[in-house]
Amino acid sequence: MKIELNKIDEAQARSLPDGKFGFGRTFSNHMLTRQYSGEGGWEDAQIQPYGPISMSLSMSVFHYAQEIFEGTKAYRRPDGKINLFRIDQNIKRFNRSAKRMELPQMDEEEHLEAIVKLIELDHEWVPSQPDSSLYIRPTLVCSEETIGSLNGNEALFFILLSPVDPYFANGFAPISVFVEDEYVRAVRGGVGEAKTGGNYAASLHATDKAIKAGYKQVVWLDAIERRYVEEMGGMNICFVYGNKLVTSPLTGTILPGVTRDSLLILAKDLGYETEERMIDIDELLADIKSGACTEAFACGTAAVIAPIGKMGYKGEDVIVNNNEVGSVTRHLYDELTGIQFGRIPDRFGWTLTIG
Ligand SMILES: Cc1ncc(COP(=O)(O)O)c(C=O)c1O
Repeated sequence: MKIELNKIDEAQARSLPDGKFGFGRTFSNHMLTRQYSGEGGWEDAQIQPYGPISMSLSMSVFHYAQEIFEGTKAYRRPDGKINLFRIDQNIKRFNRSAKRMELPQMDEEEHLEAIVKLIELDHEWVPSQPDSSLYIRPTLVCSEETIGSLNGNEALFFILLSPVDPYFANGFAPISVFVEDEYVRAVRGGVGEAKTGGNYAASLHATDKAIKAGYKQVVWLDAIERRYVEEMGGMNICFVYGNKLVTSPLTGTILPGVTRDSLLILAKDLGYETEERMIDIDELLADIKSGACTEAFACGTAAVIAPIGKMGYKGEDVIVNNNEVGSVTRHLYDELTGIQFGRIPDRFGWTLTIG
């Protein structure tokens, strides 16, 4: 793959802003695009200044949401270099999502090369403030100009880079979550395990309901029995039972999170037990009240680990661990972020260092 470089004019180049970034609102100086067609396959990639591009409103993605994306981060190390974390896993998941949504596969090496080249160019956009990072958003949309036939005969791949603060404004502090028993996120056989935009659009209404009721996020139950805990809006969910980390199994309805998988590996390595099992909401809340379940947290690239301090379900609020960050949650958070930011040695071979 050739990557054509069209650099931004010096006069127009922006610097990484000082202070707060928020999440996903600021973009770096450059973006990468690459076009696909059924006849010609993938074209060369182009790096160009970040900004609007011209598109036809008949593009299939605008009508039928045929799109997929990824979310991963670049972390500034203490030595000034940059770490990517388990980027191979995001690249593989990208192709799995593409397959599910009838979009073309991209060569894994070429996908990695595209990410690395863009980050090398905009390396100054990787923040060095503690806990901030550069969010990487590879995306693939069906760009065929048709509202008729539905296929992925033409597609547009792009990568955006966005400096971000910790996802929750309060940082590493307990959040309150609302267990949703009316709306559902995904059914078996559906697209719940694909990272496709429709899953997120479909969750907005319930999220709005939860926020209006004073919670930060939604916890989804399974769509058939409305009984088993699945995951959250953009994160997987874990519970601590003494020395054991418990999380829902990958049954096809939840996104197989890279953070979730990393924590299962890390927890074992640190001497905790791990269990992937169906989690009955009534049993879980009874276990929290009795003290059998000692901690709860959400996990994903955006927030890394978000401790859960309160769970609202059917009109009752159940407080977890006195609404404080638990010791296991903190231990896992310190270890995982330590590896991501290069503060502690990476004994798993998870990081790729640039620069
Ligand atoms: C629905 C959903 N579940 C879980 C996750 C966590 O996945 P990861 O740890 O790979 O970021 C995400 C975030 O990407 C998500 O959007």
